[in-house]
Amino acid sequence: MAGFQIMSLIWSVLLFSVYLAECVPEKPKRSTLNQLTRTLLRKYDCGVRPVHNWTSSTTVYIDLILQSVLDVDGKTQTITTSIWYRQIWKDEFLVWDPEDFDGITELSLSSDAIWVPDIIVAEFVKEGKSPPIPYVYVNSSGSVKNYRPIQAVLACSLEMYAFPFDTQNCSLTFRSWLHSGLPLTSKGDLWLFM
Ligand SMILES: *[C@@H]1O[C@H](CO)[C@@H](O)[C@H](O)[C@H]1NC(C)=O
Ligand SMILES: *[C@@H]1O[C@H](CO)[C@@H](O)[C@H](O)[C@H]1NC(C)=O
Ligand SMILES: *[C@@H]1O[C@H](CO)[C@@H](O)[C@H](O)[C@H]1NC(C)=O
Repeated sequence: MAGFQIMSLIWSVLLFSVYLAECVPEKPKRSTLNQLTRTLLRKYDCGVRPVHNWTSSTTVYIDLILQSVLDVDGKTQTITTSIWYRQIWKDEFLVWDPEDFDGITELSLSSDAIWVPDIIVAEFVKEGKSPPIPYVYVNSSGSVKNYRPIQAVLACSLEMYAFPFDTQNCSLTFRSWLHSGLPLTSKGDLWLFM
């Protein structure tokens, strides 16, 4: 009788310790997304244009979607607009094989952590109260997408005499603060949806 009780006590102690071993892993594991982000940013220098060979250029594709015209001012020759600004470029250091990371093909990174082109639109007289979006989206081939809503005042030459059948011609000039003339090129697409 006593022997049987001891056996069952040993069994339950054994079962209990197996149960404990399953519940408490040896060390906490990082998520795959966390591992991937750490791997990409481990040796990243966000002050350096992301090319392996400095003679390669970085092409920045720019889309603008004019969402709405909020105000037209004939006196100051300006229009106040709400714009979605998107720029896409290739970062040669943010490339990974999705098979090594649970099939993750896209992730978001803090835009402070990586190189971001410093392109500005000369005609944006003032950028409005649009909130900055602190993230960029990167896919496994290193394509980085950066979206930003902008409330901007554009300088235009307004031809009001034909109102309300007038067309307004506003041109936008893209500039880079730092890379003027250096290996940074931009190709623009302007899409207008009104
Ligand atoms: C960089 O690219 C240029 C032009 O393609 C090539 O001549 C040069 O050898 C490359 N440099 C390195 C370090 O790969
Ligand atoms: C990453 O995005 C670029 C641009 O949208 C696209 O051309 C490329 O095929 C994408 N790569 C992958 C692996 O999805
Ligand atoms: C708009 O203005 C630019 C520069 O002045 C000119 O080259 C272009 O032909 C104009 N476009 C239209 C549609 O009037």
